[in-house]
Amino acid sequence: MTRGDVIVGVGGGMVTDVAGYAAASWHRGIAVVHVSTTLVGMVDAAIGGKTGVNIPEGKNLVGAFWQPSGVVCDTSTLATLPERERRCGYGEMAKYHFLTGDDLLAMDLPSRIARCVRIKADIVSQDEREGGLRAVLNYGHTLGHALEIATHFSLAHGEAVAVGLKFAALVAHSMGRIDASRVAYHDDVIVKEYGLSVAMPTGLAVSELVDLMKRDKKSSGGLTFMLDGPRGIEMVRDVPEEIVLDCLKRMELR
Ligand SMILES: NC(=O)c1ccc[n+]([C@@H]2O[C@H](COP(=O)([O-])OP(=O)(O)OC[C@H]3O[C@@H](n4cnc5c(N)ncnc54)[C@H](O)[C@@H]3O)[C@@H](O)[C@H]2O)c1
Repeated sequence: MTRGDVIVGVGGGMVTDVAGYAAASWHRGIAVVHVSTTLVGMVDAAIGGKTGVNIPEGKNLVGAFWQPSGVVCDTSTLATLPERERRCGYGEMAKYHFLTGDDLLAMDLPSRIARCVRIKADIVSQDEREGGLRAVLNYGHTLGHALEIATHFSLAHGEAVAVGLKFAALVAHSMGRIDASRVAYHDDVIVKEYGLSVAMPTGLAVSELVDLMKRDKKSSGGLTFMLDGPRGIEMVRDVPEEIVLDCLKRMELR
């Protein structure tokens, strides 16, 4: 391929990440177009220019920021998406309901996907390298990532994020940042609209979850969460451990 060629990645986030990384590296960067065929890909992985591949030492350790020249989301490809992959997409989509004041519930699926793309693109265009604002896209991910690791990935990413979103709402409520109706709105979106479970898997050690959350990439030692509040979702450092423990105890179990 020459510098004038274009790589086209057709598939889910795994494919578009690899295509994007290859494009970023070949001749020090050639154009790439992502044709996304999963919900996760459409609302998340294909947007924003983060590309990465896993190596034995860890996830996404090798990668580059490389923006696609275009992203195609043909929602007819979703007809064949397995149910679990669809649920994973819904976990990420649910997050977008809390990032802006938009009433995504009032939109049909294609319009909702388009709106999610616009929300992510707007955030990334203000903070491409995650120096600040882009971190709001991690809403629900602090407990979500901890649950993925603690369950040895038997809980898929989107399923874990769904639980993490409800947990973040409970923490925000305990800190007086949001009222009970906003917590109920989280249930309306995550459980009623997307049919996702917000119950924690049984048998997990609370102390392990807290340790894992302390090692979250946003953390600077204490417990750091993206939390809802009067100014919208924002990073809150040094959330008291008692509140985190209390909210973990109040989560439903599956
Ligand atoms: N770059 C980013 O910002 C970013 C963001 C989120 C996720 N990711 C990455 O994306 C990946 C997850 O993406 P994903 O959920 O799309 O998973 P995936 O790419 O692994 O695809 C999931 C499964 O669905 C199949 N599939 C794809 N499209 C299909 C279709 N239309 N019909 C039937 N089956 C189909 C795939 O073959 C695969 O088995 C992870 O590797 C993750 O690290 C990257």
